[in-house]
Amino acid sequence: MSVATDYDVHDLSQADQGKLRIEWAGSQMPVLAAIRERFAKERPLAGIDLAACLHVTSETANLALTLAAGGANVRLCASNPLSTNDEVAASLVHHHEIPTFAIKGEDDTTYYKHLEAAASTGPKMSMDDGADLVSLLHTKLTDKLPGVIGGTEETTTGVIRLRSMEAKGVLRYPIVAVNEADTKHLFDNRYGTGQSTIDGITRATNILLAGRNVVVCGYGWCGRGVTMRARGLGANVIVTEVDPTRALEAVMDGARVMPIAEAAKIGDIFITVTGNIHAIGIEHLRAMKDGTVVANSGHFNVEIAIEAMEQETTRRTVRPFVEEYTFKDGHRVFLLAEGRLVNLSAADGHPAAVMDMSFANQALCAEYMAKNAGSLERRVYDVPLEIDREIARLKLRSLGSEIDELTPEQQNYLESWEMGT
Ligand SMILES: NC(=O)c1ccc[n+]([C@@H]2O[C@H](COP(=O)([O-])OP(=O)(O)OC[C@H]3O[C@@H](n4cnc5c(N)ncnc54)[C@H](O)[C@@H]3O)[C@@H](O)[C@H]2O)c1
Repeated sequence: MSVATDYDVHDLSQADQGKLRIEWAGSQMPVLAAIRERFAKERPLAGIDLAACLHVTSETANLALTLAAGGANVRLCASNPLSTNDEVAASLVHHHEIPTFAIKGEDDTTYYKHLEAAASTGPKMSMDDGADLVSLLHTKLTDKLPGVIGGTEETTTGVIRLRSMEAKGVLRYPIVAVNEADTKHLFDNRYGTGQSTIDGITRATNILLAGRNVVVCGYGWCGRGVTMRARGLGANVIVTEVDPTRALEAVMDGARVMPIAEAAKIGDIFITVTGNIHAIGIEHLRAMKDGTVVANSGHFNVEIAIEAMEQETTRRTVRPFVEEYTFKDGHRVFLLAEGRLVNLSAADGHPAAVMDMSFANQALCAEYMAKNAGSLERRVYDVPLEIDREIARLKLRSLGSEIDELTPEQQNYLESWEMGT
């Protein structure tokens, strides 16, 4: 066995535990396994230097192994300082020779040093979860830009940043927005974030959700999932929104909808999934009841006004991932995981069966990018429909479900306008 020589992980002696974790996740990722098998034969990514900035989890490890099976030289760093699984990072280096730069709890300086290490060899392709790598290549490492043929982006927040770069004319290479695939956001953002966010909150606090007022800020794909699962555990869900259509949907789904200023006074547990800054402002934190729990599952830790809260409170750690902030009037707010993605910080992130589809999209989009690099413009592209459909078909089959095919008569009916009653 050869070990990567270029890496920065917590402790290589944890590698064997990591190997077991990677195998366990892999056993629930049949679509990615099928792609890996094909990649090993066809080598569509042969010789491509690929820098990946993703949450370093056992599911991501399976993606990295798939890309490597396809011939890519993968260098991996974390897309969040708290989401790394150190055992998995160690195994990637020790068993799989994948240069990995990720340590759970790394400070901001190390986080950015790791990003630079992943991109240091001058990647041909970038794979992002939050667009930090793209951003680095477009600012500090512009000398490496000419060699990049394209990239992929995993999450909503990253896609928003990239579309803004495209609109301002500064995006220098094409990106496929993996998040926009139906087989990604309909499942990952909804069922994955829904389940794992509640998992993170209950692991960190062991709090009972039944009968409590759970306030979900943002009723997008993630918010719908979190709402569904919190309700399943008996919570009374309150939704805050800024989009009237989404708010209407929340009302018709059975939630109470109100402004955050009102929700702040009655909520027991707050979960932000807006992808926006200060969905919970300092004035709302001030108004909360004593003992309120506040967590974020959106991409960045900007959704809660943490810095402002720090200025007017005293603080102590009461459990792992639970910080108690006491305001001068005596009321306490418990902030989970420093306001970072609670599902990845305090739990294991999304279940592997969901990441199977998200990462199948990543792998197939990397292949698509390698094949079509020359013909793509400096734009943000949606995932091609054939890729999306193929992943749904493979996943359905792995779950033991078959579906019907349109008969020629039905096909004809759907394509005609003459036939009526
Ligand atoms: N935790 C995870 O593992 C995970 C997984 C997928 C996505 N994400 C992240 O979660 C966030 C949400 O993703 P999504 O796919 O649900 O996005 P989305 O765009 O579908 O939904 C976001 C919703 O928040 C609403 N919103 C915006 N500002 C608001 C405010 N101030 N108050 C209340 N509502 C507000 C928007 O109107 C929208 O309906 C993003 O940052 C995304 O990157 C996290």
